[in-house]
Amino acid sequence: LVHGPTPIHTLRSGEKHKLWIKRDDCTGLALGGNKTRKLEFTIGQAIAEGATALVTASGIQSNHVRQTAAAAARSGLAFHPIVFAPLPRFGIGHLNSGNLLLDGLLGAKLHVAESEADLDAKVSDVIESLTREGHRVFFIPLGASDGVGSLGYVAAALEIVDQIRAQGLSTSHVFTATGSGGTHAGLIAGLRLAGSSIQVVGISVSEPTDAKIKRVGQALSQIAVRLGIEAPPWAASDILVLDRYAGAGYAFPTAEADEWVRSVARNDGILLDPVYTGKAFAGAMDLLDAEALGKVADPLFLHTGGIPVLFAEPTSLWDALKETPGLDLLQARIV
Ligand SMILES: Cc1ncc(COP(=O)(O)O)c(C=O)c1O
Repeated sequence: LVHGPTPIHTLRSGEKHKLWIKRDDCTGLALGGNKTRKLEFTIGQAIAEGATALVTASGIQSNHVRQTAAAAARSGLAFHPIVFAPLPRFGIGHLNSGNLLLDGLLGAKLHVAESEADLDAKVSDVIESLTREGHRVFFIPLGASDGVGSLGYVAAALEIVDQIRAQGLSTSHVFTATGSGGTHAGLIAGLRLAGSSIQVVGISVSEPTDAKIKRVGQALSQIAVRLGIEAPPWAASDILVLDRYAGAGYAFPTAEADEWVRSVARNDGILLDPVYTGKAFAGAMDLLDAEALGKVADPLFLHTGGIPVLFAEPTSLWDALKETPGLDLLQARIV
């Protein structure tokens, strides 16, 4: 599924810190992103178990659901995601735009839960009815961040170690957005298994640090079980997550993240997103500016994707167009 290795190159943004970027927005599957690496393993497991249908649950505008829909299509599997609106403030525009539009296009059979609290019951219902229809169902947990999906980032870490060696870098820190935790955990596991002491710096995009450390820790334990490692070469102290860049919570915009989305687009021609990579980039730049991480060499920012969210309903990012002369003429014709 993955078009790899994805490139590592310099950025003009963050140049004073010699910031590099790993382009996992270019993993290749239906607009790319980090989930494609996890699905390489998750779909493999599903096929090995003889699955005919995949089920997962997530919020609307989920990058995970979009990439899973594409992976299911490529693998000839039915895909039934259960989605809910995590925030009441979502407007109607979210229903025909961004990831949700692509889910439909990619053939996902969407089911809707009324709220997050109803999610588990709805998942059971969907699994039951698919089973009754004769399907063999494979359930993918939140963000595919279990011991199977997270192996995608164990493999990615090995790819990074090879690349920085080949490119002559002495990378000391890798920055990533931390959501369900599998990306962060896979990176730690892969780096330590490769004998690298690179520090993974996780920027929480939603919950407090404690909750994220727990998620990453659980994914690390599951990776160890999956790989049959009794004495892992990593420790709890390897897990570093900062929650001060998450703003009011999941998918709530922050001024700093939006500013970096605009700035990286203009200075590097690279699209970040306001939900994950914008917040992670804002965190990385702030930590580097504040010299909060001790000695840093050739820092590397992992771009985990998320671009379709830019096309979901108006956001403050659309202000970039407001100065366009004649925009009012267009508006008059459209409205
Ligand atoms: C664009 C993007 N970046 C980062 C993440 C976080 O990855 P993880 O859930 O493995 O922590 C996600 C997960 O949804 C994502 O869609």
